Amino acid sequence: MRAVDIIQKKRDGLELTSQEIQWLIEGYTAGTVPDYQMSAFAMAVYFKGMTTREISDLTMTMVGTGQQFDLSEIAGVKVDKHSTGGVGDKVTLVLVPLVASFGVPVAKMSGRGLGHTGGTIDKLESIKGFQVERSQEEFIQQVQDIELSVIGQSDQLVRADKLLYALRDVTATVDTIPLIASSVMSKKIAAGADSILLDVTVGEGAFMKNLADARRLAQTMVDLGKAVGRKTTAVITDMSQPLGTSIGNRLEILEALAILQGQGREDITVFICELAQIMLSLADVEKTAEEVRQHLTDGSALEKFEAMIAAQGGDLEDLYRPSSAAYVLEVTADQDGYITELPAMEFGLFAMRLGAGRAVKTDSLDYETGLVFEKKVGDRVRAGQVLAKIYANQKISQELVTDFKKNVKISNEAVKVSEIIEIIA
Ligand code: URA
Repeated sequence: MRAVDIIQKKRDGLELTSQEIQWLIEGYTAGTVPDYQMSAFAMAVYFKGMTTREISDLTMTMVGTGQQFDLSEIAGVKVDKHSTGGVGDKVTLVLVPLVASFGVPVAKMSGRGLGHTGGTIDKLESIKGFQVERSQEEFIQQVQDIELSVIGQSDQLVRADKLLYALRDVTATVDTIPLIASSVMSKKIAAGADSILLDVTVGEGAFMKNLADARRLAQTMVDLGKAVGRKTTAVITDMSQPLGTSIGNRLEILEALAILQGQGREDITVFICELAQIMLSLADVEKTAEEVRQHLTDGSALEKFEAMIAAQGGDLEDLYRPSSAAYVLEVTADQDGYITELPAMEFGLFAMRLGAGRAVKTDSLDYETGLVFEKKVGDRVRAGQVLAKIYANQKISQELVTDFKKNVKISNEAVKVSEIIEIIA
């Protein structure tokens, strides 16, 4: 076989055979198919798409390019969760200890942030001493001991995705359903959980910009999971504005702690409790919204979170440390009205300018910087009231404040917001 023929076939909109997909992906992982041919292939997929059978073959071939975790030693139904990416998305930090506090084992591998999106692993690494690299044995042992571990994706897992994702990131081929579905599901299948909750974000700050595409991605991934015997549910969630009140690594840890103590903003608290109900149900544990919420107010979820931080070497005093950013500036509203737009992408990029995110994989992060919103879409605001606080380690220029305000839309009419748009099971 020749890579050029496979690229040409896809470029012309034809369906590839299982053997062709396998040959290409295995060759790429082994280094015999070069980056430039894989880039051309990814672009051909971007424009021509893939059939359900091709996506399934691509996913399962990718699973085979690395280690597969065997979690069978852990008793009970192991649940996992994955988000297709967002701004201010600290859901995992609250959701997984909340679910684990009901005795359901959660063994989760998370990623790092890139571009306007944040990553759970970066947020956890803002806690002094916290270790994200664990062997399979340590990971399993910890889940057996305390029902919870969140680690970085092992280098040995789905090696094709490591290479391909980095390539897609610099060739404008990330936001295409076949490549996102195979990337996410290959990792989830290889990570070994029995049940999977997928959070498919939609809107201005997400890879899927409209509901029709988000539905197609969600359905594709649910079908892939079910086809290999994993109980899989997807929720389509709004990413037109940042999630919760903060963007930035330490700031998001602090918001997660507030939610874990029952003191978070109501909308994100309700949202996470709904996700927890779905995730528990994927492990055959049925709980009411009140029962789930109780674990935020009675300290059970927080206790699990602290247990995980301690088990992975994190310093529990440092966990509660406020941001040490040298400059904190309040941005105030210029007029009365209702907030109607806080574009997630723009504020993700804004936080990146402050050092909270990386433009390229090799950039280092400033864990202390970012944004804390006092007002979100739907909220009423009066002129002079604080909209948000900017946390920076460099003097905050007037230009930065102007850029911030440019992105906040205030009007006389209130708008309704809803975090969960649809559930696909
Ligand atoms: N998240 C992933 O893991 N892969 C993608 O392709 C997009 C989001």
